[in-house]
Amino acid sequence: LGRQIHHEESVDSTQKIAHRLAYEGAQEGTVIIAEEQLSGRGRMDRRWHSPKSTGVWMSVILRPNIPPPKAPQLTLITAVAVVQAIEELTDLTPQIKWPNDILMNGKKVTGILTELQADADRIISIIIGIGINVNQELDDYPDELKDIATSISIEKGEKLSRAELIRVLLAKLENLYKLYLDKGFYPIKLLWESYAVSIGKNLTARTITGSIYGKALGITEDGVLMIEDSSGKVHHVYSADIELDV
Ligand code: BTN
Repeated sequence: LGRQIHHEESVDSTQKIAHRLAYEGAQEGTVIIAEEQLSGRGRMDRRWHSPKSTGVWMSVILRPNIPPPKAPQLTLITAVAVVQAIEELTDLTPQIKWPNDILMNGKKVTGILTELQADADRIISIIIGIGINVNQELDDYPDELKDIATSISIEKGEKLSRAELIRVLLAKLENLYKLYLDKGFYPIKLLWESYAVSIGKNLTARTITGSIYGKALGITEDGVLMIEDSSGKVHHVYSADIELDV
């Protein structure tokens, strides 16, 4: 991964550029990195705050030969890669909140957005967007983010080289991706579960169709969250916002 790196100064969104390059036939592993995003995209149509030269704002193009319903697995692979990279470069212990938030002290340090270009039965390309808050200070955050977002430097008490983080992250992601193509999702699932905060806990999953309250049992082979409600019924949740009980 990362043999082709496009490094941009200021863009709308690295996802947008990645979609265009993928459509034009960019090779697997192409990476787009920006210093600043003017309209960074988050999940569920939200915005992603991406100020200049403080974070890693990056999109990676992959072309795995898997059916579209398995695409969420790539999000989980990426989350494991980010945790491993942060652990290698700091003594921090980030945790994963299903599906794709990476937290430190309960606050969000990384978000992952996976988007597809696919036919009915085949993925043409998968664009993984990774936003890591690296060197922001608390004062850099708008008020509405101060309680929910953090950065590596806030948690670590010193700045971290973004170039170094990108290098280690791409190496981890490449290793995990190869493991996945070789051995399937199971070894990744075990790693993911070892970093997950939500498993075994009571939580509320807010989905488009309503809320489910219950205990998180784990994830399926496809990376789908299983929640057991008080009547013992197990729900499969594909996409939701998760709120953990305190
Ligand atoms: C989330 O909502 O948690 C996902 C946030 C993903 C942000 C990254 S930053 C790089 C890439 N480009 C974007 O516009 N979004 C993703």
